[in-house]
Amino acid sequence: MPRTAIIGTGHWVPERVVTNDDLTELMDTSDEWIRERTGIRERRWVEPGTTGAEMATRASRMALEDAGIAAEEVDAVVLATLSPDHFFPGTGVFLARELGLGTAPAIDLRAQCSGFVYGLQVADALIRTEQYRTILLVGVEIQSTGLDVSTEGRDMAVLFGDGAGAALLRATDDPTRGVLSTHIHAEGEHAEILWGDAPASWRHPRIGPDDFDERRVYPSMAGREVFKHAVTRMPEVVREALDANGLEPSEIDLLIPHQANLRISQMVQKRLRLSDEQVFNNIEKYGNTTAATIPIALSEAVRLGRLERGDLLCLTAFGSGFTWGSALLRW
Ligand SMILES: CC(C)(COP(=O)(O)OP(=O)(O)OC[C@H]1O[C@@H](n2cnc3c(N)ncnc32)[C@H](O)[C@@H]1OP(=O)(O)O)[C@@H](O)C(=O)NCCC(=O)NCCS
Repeated sequence: MPRTAIIGTGHWVPERVVTNDDLTELMDTSDEWIRERTGIRERRWVEPGTTGAEMATRASRMALEDAGIAAEEVDAVVLATLSPDHFFPGTGVFLARELGLGTAPAIDLRAQCSGFVYGLQVADALIRTEQYRTILLVGVEIQSTGLDVSTEGRDMAVLFGDGAGAALLRATDDPTRGVLSTHIHAEGEHAEILWGDAPASWRHPRIGPDDFDERRVYPSMAGREVFKHAVTRMPEVVREALDANGLEPSEIDLLIPHQANLRISQMVQKRLRLSDEQVFNNIEKYGNTTAATIPIALSEAVRLGRLERGDLLCLTAFGSGFTWGSALLRW
């Protein structure tokens, strides 16, 4: 059975930098509050007109170039987002069209902040079972257009950013590299703790003025509850992955946690007894870009020389649903 290797990575973030000080002009907040509670210094927000498909295309082209392969070699797209350009069809088909992938299938996946790890499990299964040889896995998010940037929405608005990240996955017979295992979970009883209520297809109509007046169009969250679950589930699912492979936390060369909040990542690091060198964070520059955080961080980590051939790479995520997961790979 072949294994799944990551043969290229790429990312793209909008040029517009929004600092914490910029946010103080829109809402009652402060650089100090945001940095102390979240570690975020700035984030990127799209200019009007930029689509998720465009962002995904830019990240994907960088990954294709990094892998040194042509777009025509991609057999399938798996794209994770909670902020599709349209209610339907999914952003994946627009990406495939932009890249000129012909009739290659585009699988859109909704697992919020865990989207990339969920997508990796799906893509890995498709490669191992020899359905496809080369899969483009993308996480892309435009959060900024859905936020309430007044003081009322400040608890959410300061956290999120826009961006896209991509990884090219390819079947390999090399037993020394590739995905070792993936582990994903969900617990829908907590769905409303972190969610976007509207638009909703069961409402007649799906969206109306009441949804704005009653704030259903804005994402909402019980922050402390999310924090508590995240710092429990992420270490737990990393241990699940390590146990499945007979490995210890000390053997991890690089952990890339979902970038929700630096305090969450620090607590995950502490609970797994990992050193600073073992963990990669870039939330200070981008905020939480949801499904895009892990592939953006992976692409940056590669370019910063943080991963060498044979290194043990661990990914872990937690997010709305709740959903969470982990993956272990030999780089
Ligand atoms: C969001 C989070 C940083 C808030 O930190 P917290 O310490 O729990 O803060 P609270 O929500 O209890 O709010 C504390 C106070 O700060 C205020 N506040 C909230 N957002 C603020 C902001 N952006 N600026 C200034 N003050 C703010 C609150 O109104 C509250 O004021 P009060 O005490 O007068 O009522 C934290 O809960 C968190 O990180 N949760 C996880 C979020 C997350 O990761 N979500 C995505 C997961 S994928």
